[in-house]
Amino acid sequence: METVSTAANLQRILAAWRQEGFRTALVPTMGALHEGHLALVDHARRRADRVVVTIFVNPLQFGPHEDLARYPRDLERDQALLGDRGADLLYAPAVAEVYPAPPLVTIDPGPMAGRLEGAVRPGHFSGVLTVVAKLVHVVGPAVACFGQKDIQQAMLIRRMVADLDWPIEIEVVRTVRDVDGLALSSRNRFLAPDERTQALVLSRMLRAVEAAWRGGVRGGAALLEVGREVLAAVPDVRVDYAVVVDPDRLEPLESVGPGAIVAVAARVGPTRLIDNVILTESGS
Ligand code: PAJ
Repeated sequence: METVSTAANLQRILAAWRQEGFRTALVPTMGALHEGHLALVDHARRRADRVVVTIFVNPLQFGPHEDLARYPRDLERDQALLGDRGADLLYAPAVAEVYPAPPLVTIDPGPMAGRLEGAVRPGHFSGVLTVVAKLVHVVGPAVACFGQKDIQQAMLIRRMVADLDWPIEIEVVRTVRDVDGLALSSRNRFLAPDERTQALVLSRMLRAVEAAWRGGVRGGAALLEVGREVLAAVPDVRVDYAVVVDPDRLEPLESVGPGAIVAVAARVGPTRLIDNVILTESGS
């Protein structure tokens, strides 16, 4: 696998691929790769002839008090993992390559971005959509892959692509978890052993709500009550939100049908974790 750090070098390779008639898939990441990211690479390989992965810790999506400086970076390890997994090309630009100057024009993610993550992280989704727009335009893929783990992000990207008529397919890949249920995240490495145990309450809560729904409970409030009870058993985990929302607008549901999203965000020690499930009649 080749690594390039400038758009000019990237585009030289992409032009050669286009001449060959290759279909390209894009997997945007911020690095510190784990099996969740690599599942996106696996998925991308099934959907295209060539896979471009990007690693770029995007300053535009971090708030002033967030963990930009301490976000984990390990390019050599990431390169080895991507090479083993069959990615074809890694684009890992410096900040000055992506933003020669701070952008004056950015993407407005609309009202859905004010909810859930956006309520706690103002400006975050404008930063995400702006960098995804730039990466899509530089790479020009037929398909781009994102994780269900960041479901609000994936849905906003889908909406951006639909609302702005971009000729690209968006694939959302299910969340990869550790054997104990914890959703893989680059931030899990910050959890002390006792915090990691406490963090399991997030997936436990999601499974409890899912079980109640499959058992016939359809009221949004009743389902949330089931979830809150599970969360309350671990008071050290400080919940930012726990919701059951519709998949189109992320608005709370009174009556919960298939396709609804159960989402939770919480702080465990200094580390903020998110997780979700999509409710389906059988195994999601
Ligand atoms: P990052 O957090 O590095 O995640 C890159 C991609 O991996 C995202 O689509 C995310 O949803 C997916 N992912 C993370 N953990 C996962 C898991 N456990 N299972 C499946 N997929 C998982 O998300 C970002 O970077 C950035 O916001 C980005 C889209 C790259 C824009 O900067």
